[in-house]
Amino acid sequence: MLRRGVFVFLLGLLMILPLVLLAPQPVLAAADSYVTRYLKVSSEPVAMDLDAEGHTRLFSAEDLSAGKKLFEQNCLNCHVGGATLPDPTVPLSLAALKGATPPRSDINSLVAYLREPMTYDGSEETFWCRQVPESWLKQPEVEKLAAFVLRAAQYAPGWGVENFES
Ligand code: HEC
Repeated sequence: MLRRGVFVFLLGLLMILPLVLLAPQPVLAAADSYVTRYLKVSSEPVAMDLDAEGHTRLFSAEDLSAGKKLFEQNCLNCHVGGATLPDPTVPLSLAALKGATPPRSDINSLVAYLREPMTYDGSEETFWCRQVPESWLKQPEVEKLAAFVLRAAQYAPGWGVENFES
């Protein structure tokens, strides 16, 4: 009887396992539902920190969806799920963004980084990340991209956690 119980248990486990492993990943969800569901922005725009002096700017769900699209098209290859594949020690998590010199955890400083990517200690330019010049993305566009990255770092479950692969 006991053996049968174990067998049924293992069988149940075998059936459930694929469901867990194949559960949809947040990054693959459609733009708007990801933004509303995981970034928690829907009908009301959200105020996001522009700088360390307390200035904020409103971003709508459409802004963040546009930012998400830019991210998917230009950054996802190296930064899937907020990780940094070529250098996992520098993920896009909020803790990592805050810990950089200077911090990259508000819109203006993140945009400054994207305009001229620097090494984590801020000592020199880095050529590993993808630079976003003005000739490619104008200010409103690069701000939407930065807003998406920041909002994901603040709210998306699992964003930039180092052991995302496991
Ligand atoms: C070819 C791979 C690659 C692409 C494409 C890329 N990055 Fe990066 N990114 C990196 C690497 C590597 C680093 C770490 C660089 C370093 O510290 O020297 C990095 C660092 C960063 C950081 C700093 C993270 C921190 O914790 O301080 C941000 C923010 C960032 N990338 C955003 C972006 C955005 C937004 C895009 C799309 C426009 C992008 N990256 C495209 C490879 C890439």
